[in-house]
Amino acid sequence: MSNQDMSDRDWWRQAVVYQVYPRSFADHDGDGVGDLPGITSRVGYLKALGVDAIWLSPFYPSALADGGYDVDDYRDVDPLLGTLADFDAMVAALHDAGIKLIIDIVPNHTSNRHRWFREALAAAPGSPARERYHFRDGTGPDGSEPPSDWPSMFGGPAWHRVPDGQWYLHLFAPEQPDLNWDNPEVREDFLTTLRFWSDRGVDGFRIDVAHALTKDMSDPLPSAPDLPDQQQPLVGDHPIWDRDDAQEVFRGWRKVFDEYDPPRTAVAEAWCHPSRRARYAQPESLGQAFNFDLLQADWDASTFRTVITRNLEASEESGSSSTWVLSNHDVVRHASRYGLPIGPNGSGAPAQLGQDGRGWVNSDGTTPQLDPELGLQRARAASLLLLALPGSAYLFQGEELGLHEVADLPHDALQDPTYERSGHQQKGRDGCRVPIPWNREGSSFGFGTGGAHLPQPRWFASVSVQAEQDDPSSTLSLYRAAIAVRARLQGEESLTWVDSAPNLLHFTRPGGWHCLTNLGAAPVDLPDGEVMVTSGPLRDGLLPQDTTAWVVTRR
Ligand code: GLC
Repeated sequence: MSNQDMSDRDWWRQAVVYQVYPRSFADHDGDGVGDLPGITSRVGYLKALGVDAIWLSPFYPSALADGGYDVDDYRDVDPLLGTLADFDAMVAALHDAGIKLIIDIVPNHTSNRHRWFREALAAAPGSPARERYHFRDGTGPDGSEPPSDWPSMFGGPAWHRVPDGQWYLHLFAPEQPDLNWDNPEVREDFLTTLRFWSDRGVDGFRIDVAHALTKDMSDPLPSAPDLPDQQQPLVGDHPIWDRDDAQEVFRGWRKVFDEYDPPRTAVAEAWCHPSRRARYAQPESLGQAFNFDLLQADWDASTFRTVITRNLEASEESGSSSTWVLSNHDVVRHASRYGLPIGPNGSGAPAQLGQDGRGWVNSDGTTPQLDPELGLQRARAASLLLLALPGSAYLFQGEELGLHEVADLPHDALQDPTYERSGHQQKGRDGCRVPIPWNREGSSFGFGTGGAHLPQPRWFASVSVQAEQDDPSSTLSLYRAAIAVRARLQGEESLTWVDSAPNLLHFTRPGGWHCLTNLGAAPVDLPDGEVMVTSGPLRDGLLPQDTTAWVVTRR
């Protein structure tokens, strides 16, 4: 098992981290919503999978305007998910099993039910309570126009008007008012929150939207078309995104993390240009940052090679280790993405964003045609490649079962705010958040005893834990084997490319560990040595297309 030494201060550098989306993992009390006792009851499963840590998406009290990323109280547990005592029991069970816990912190915005926001609404314009957020007067003769024309990330304007006529900023849903990070009380309160959870045994934090936080709201607010393009390398002075002064906040957080032994860790969710990512990953800042480049890459050898090389260089620059992600709660599952044609929303044309699968989801999974077997075969190959890379591997619950996206969720079941705010044009992210199938049969396939808060498709039976756990060819068996072998082979954080045909990704890690992924039509020879794991069957000893193999040439 890879579950690591609990006192190692570098445990995170090459950890396998499994993301649990708590409302969809395991439902202990049978109300259709996953909960903390549900997670505790499945610690044995996580231990057998061999993960080093779990990252727990928000479990705080929330009206679920954005899947829990609208937090009412940062220092409590949603009653639907349990209590603080349940949290403590979960931490104890995870730690007993040698598994660390990373929790999500959402600092850019609170929910509109947070005590501070309620106080702000009750208080007058210009009052200290409003200073914790970005309230301001509107424009136009009677102030009935928003302060600027900025769009929100979920569609519609980024400003919402309150009854006394002022407007507040929300870069996401209106139920997620943005905090004012120039306010010392806001800064201080988050330090209290970080200590609150660290004192309860939390080992690390995933920082939501770390690339927003600080903002330049000085007049005049620039118009949206005049804002610098976020996809370009910014220089740290964009009014909203990826500002250099956010690093002051994180340096303060680092001091808190370092009060603990081992120091608490953090990973930034920073959707910024790759050239800017190292700032968040520096040891004096958050220490690690998500790299979403693989997750955004098409199934294409030269793209993968470039992404891997560039990110390993960037991690050297920051002194951190790289992170690798193929799926999470915000994107279409990679088994489905790779079964769609390449191009914008599966159009077949080359595209920057590539196989993102959004258009396919919007068509309820009808257009373009998904090739589910091909998608799964490639997903298994990609996951085995990911697990061979130096750095930490972040997995999303259900990918170890080879789950596909549930693209045909009925529209009246959708929960993602994107759906309403896009005028029903975008179905949103619910298709990867459907509760996990544990059993072949039963109410909600063993998720709980009282149904599931998002409907599960019938095909979940054949990809349930029960269906896969004793099948050596299942995706679950592949992940278990790969994680166990990885733990044995893992060494220094370095990788060397081996010269090979353009469609073959072949690299070595220290200790004679070779990883080969064949994206070309012609089967290829493996190096002489012991074949440790393959993502699919070899053909006459050769590595077929869309397959990965690990070979050890000397021990
Ligand atoms: C992050 C989360 C996403 C959420 C958003 C707003 O991007 O991953 O799920 O909707 O932040 O909090």
